[in-house]
Amino acid sequence: MSKPRVLVSRKLPDAVQVRLNPSDKPLSGTDFVAAMSEFDALAPTVSDRLDANILLTPERRVRMIANIGVGFNNIDVETAGKEGIAVSNTPGVLTDATADIALFLILSATRRAYAAERKLREERWSGFSIVEGLGTSIQGKSLGIVGMGRIGQATAKRAALGFGMKIVYYNRSPIKELDFEAQSLDSIDAVMTAADIVSVHVPGGNDAPIVTAKHIASMKPSAYLVNTARGDSLDQRALIHALRKGHIAGAGLDVYENEPHVPDELRVMENVTLLPHIGSATLEVRTAMGMLAVDNLEAFFAGLPLPNAVVPGRC
Ligand code: DGY
Repeated sequence: MSKPRVLVSRKLPDAVQVRLNPSDKPLSGTDFVAAMSEFDALAPTVSDRLDANILLTPERRVRMIANIGVGFNNIDVETAGKEGIAVSNTPGVLTDATADIALFLILSATRRAYAAERKLREERWSGFSIVEGLGTSIQGKSLGIVGMGRIGQATAKRAALGFGMKIVYYNRSPIKELDFEAQSLDSIDAVMTAADIVSVHVPGGNDAPIVTAKHIASMKPSAYLVNTARGDSLDQRALIHALRKGHIAGAGLDVYENEPHVPDELRVMENVTLLPHIGSATLEVRTAMGMLAVDNLEAFFAGLPLPNAVVPGRC
């Protein structure tokens, strides 16, 4: 076979580069349609939407998609499967970094860090105060994990062992063993009503958000909601409503529905920390993600099983 042609949709750390989009400007749907008949494989990332219209490009050449991201809700994997296009992702290497950001958001939201920093930068700080800018301690509080996969577990472990929090969680399938104390509850409702802080770790890309308006409405008025999964893992409108009405105390968000759009209502809220989808954004982790995508591409073109198959397939 002649040398495979691979399109990497965005810039990668130097150590990983294959054949890149050097501008790092997101490719359009039209660019991807063209790429489908020009390349043997694509290495897109979580913000590149590869829907059925793109995957069904006539005279398709692409046989493998190595997504640079653990989430793959950007790819219509059902169509990929039917069309015999193999798909891989990059699990594991970003677990710790994303759990770190979940903890960062928990701390930032509960300690009102955004409002405090803003006050300082705007020169409104008049000196130490015993009563101003008070947040909420997390020690002894309960953290509710919705989705106890790798990242949910890493977040819970940090919170339990590092910060003395009590963990309650809901996971679709039972978890056999955890190396820290945590109580499994039998529904998302139970977690939402019990927890002082809820951290969401369920995938997006479903027909409807897994964390619904009803779930959000059942949270304690003193509770905080943190999301490092996907914007559409929860009902974003319902979250904004709950925050506006003071039905919950605050939130920490790294992901949004329709990124990079962030609703103005959220931008102006002082009790909300907003990050621009940086859960896995360290040089070490992004390099490892790129390397893992390359491992999957290499395996595919060597006719070997994919190390991280979402849709299995061989060259
Ligand atoms: C992923 O890999 O799915 C993350 O959201 C990227 O940070």
